[in-house]
Parts: sequence; C-alpha cells; structure tokens
Amino acid sequence: MTSRDIQRAAEVLRAGGLVGFPTETVYGLGADASNDEAVKKIYAAKGRPRNHPVIVHVSAFGDVATWACDVPAAARRLAARYWPGPLTLILERRAGVSDALTGGQDTIALRSPSHPLARALLTAFGGGIAAPSANRYGRVSATTAEHVRTEFGEAVDFVLDGGACDFGIESTIVDLSGGRAALLRPGSITMQAVEEALGAPLGAADADSPRAPGTLTKHYAPQTPLMLMEGDLIVELAASMARQGRKVAVLARSTLRPLIDGVTWIAAAEDPAAYAHDLYANLRALDAAGCDAILVEQPPLAPAWSAVQDRLTRAAAGSASSDAT
Ligand code: TXA
Ligand code: MG
Repeated sequence: MTSRDIQRAAEVLRAGGLVGFPTETVYGLGADASNDEAVKKIYAAKGRPRNHPVIVHVSAFGDVATWACDVPAAARRLAARYWPGPLTLILERRAGVSDALTGGQDTIALRSPSHPLARALLTAFGGGIAAPSANRYGRVSATTAEHVRTEFGEAVDFVLDGGACDFGIESTIVDLSGGRAALLRPGSITMQAVEEALGAPLGAADADSPRAPGTLTKHYAPQTPLMLMEGDLIVELAASMARQGRKVAVLARSTLRPLIDGVTWIAAAEDPAAYAHDLYANLRALDAAGCDAILVEQPPLAPAWSAVQDRLTRAAAGSASSDAT
C-alpha cells in the first residue's frame, strides 16, 4: 500500500463510495459519515437492517464534539488511556447527527482506530468515517483484505490492504450515554481494564442501555452448523461422525487431535490474543471445508477469554439458522 492508495481511498469516500480498510481489530466497510446516501450503501451492501447504528471512526478525541454532546469526564479518561485503539464509546449524539448513523437512537458510537492505514485514511479524508465490520449481516467478520473482497465483490469500490488485523476481534464497546457506564460488547480491552481506567465498576447492558443490535445472540456465524463443547466430547463426536461418513471440522487444542480420517482439524492457539487474532480466518477456513458440522472446543472460563467466548457463543447461536443472514 502506498500513499497513492490512501489518496485513492480518500477520493472514493469523498465521491460517496465504499472503502474496505484495515483497523487493528477487524476490517471496516467505510463511507463518508456526513453523507447519508453513502452510509445507506453500507446497509445495502451488508444486507443490514436500517435501525442498526454504525460506529463513526475519528482521528482523535478532539473530533468527538462534532458528533457527541454532554461528553462526560469518563469519556476523556478512557480515550486518554485507550485511544487510538480498540475501544468504542457510546455517547449522547449531538443535535443534527443523522439517523442513518444512529439507527434513530439518541446515541452515537465513536472510535479512534490505531491501525496506521486507518489513521492515514482518516487524515487524508479529513472527516469521520462510518464503518461497521466488513462482513455481510450476521456473518463472520473480515480480518484480511481478501475476506472483504470475498464478502462484497463489486459492491466495495476500493479495498486498502493492510494484511491481517492485529487483534482479530471487534472493539470493546462502553456505553457512557446514561448514568452508569456499561459494557455493551467485550473486546480485547478487558472489562477489568476499563474499570481500572474508570476507577469504578461497569454495569451490564440493561433495558435503559442504547440498543446495540450488532450484539444480538446470533452473530459472527459460519454457514456450517457450529457447536461449542468440551474437548473430550469433541474427540468422541468427531470419531462417531467420521464413522458415519460425515465430514467434521474442528477448532481445538492440537494435543487432543485424534487420528481420524476425514476430520479437518485446526489447532487453536493456547494464548487468548493469538486465538483471537486467527479466530475469524479459522472460522472461514472451517466453513469453506464443506463439512456437516464445525466443533469448537470451549475456551477457558477466564476474563482474558471473555471476548473470544462471546464471539463463539454467538457464532454457535447463529450458524446455519435461517434468520441470521
Ligand atoms: O472493532 C470494531 O468496532 C469494528 C471496526 C471496523 O471498527 N467495527 C464494528 O462495527 O465492529 P459493527 O457495526 O460490526 O459493530 C458495532 C456495534 C454494533 O453492535 C452496533 O449495534 C453497536 O456497535 N453500536 C453502534 N452504534 C451504536 C449506538 N449509537 N448505540 C449503541 N450501540 C451502537
Ligand atoms: Mg459486526
């Protein structure tokens, strides 16, 4: 990628087109956040319902006032610690901020990404970039430029290629629009880390929290049915399915690997960061293997794994169900 590519991507945004771009979490499908027609193209390309809000990506905390009002001190504190980086803040929207971005709610999601290409694009473009994860609605997020092209083909005007994303799963989302700060989506910045920076405990999302429809139970899903289970059960089930001539794909620790023909086995990383880095590429590869089922080993029940656990639970709920498109 050269500065010419950055300029070209910025021109596509100015012209109201869609740009796939890397962030440190996953690839985004970006449009000019101030251009409703451009933002609507994101929804059309993803097949996403109109009332699902999108994140506006900004260069720095100084841009927050363009989109949000009544910004609490907690927002400054969290941004000082984690921006640029994988943290999204939900704030009260400023009057006039488009419903196309907010899904008709009174809140706006803002994030300043740290990926150098995302930052270069924000600088070259000079405005906010609306971008959800670059996957079709309900499906597995994209962590390479190739994934983005596979998802959208001609519907995306330009893809900036930054290689594989560092973190591999989406940002942590913290709601600061109401009384008590709440965690709406776990990410690589753990709940404990956010609480430490805030100096106060986080609440869980409740009925008063803004809707975060992207955190629906069914999400991040491959088309092959995916089941989450303990390792010993995987070995048993994989063997029994293979005996019945059914094809099985597995994501589990390599030490478990049985010698069974016809099983596609991806050895999962032992470390949560490495596991997250490869998670979506692994799910895509297992999905592409054309098996009858994907069996995923239940990760450890520790805070460092909570974002991975969240994505796997949703992938299991959404896989192969007709309403998770
Ligand atoms: O890491 C990320 O956050 C990636 C990269 C591209 O920045 N983006 C991402 O966007 O994951 P998306 O649209 O796939 O997920 C954003 C989540 C969704 O669950 C959405 O419902 C929620 O943020 N969200 C967006 N705006 C919101 C708002 N105003 N209030 C509550 N939730 C909001
Ligand atoms: Mg998404």
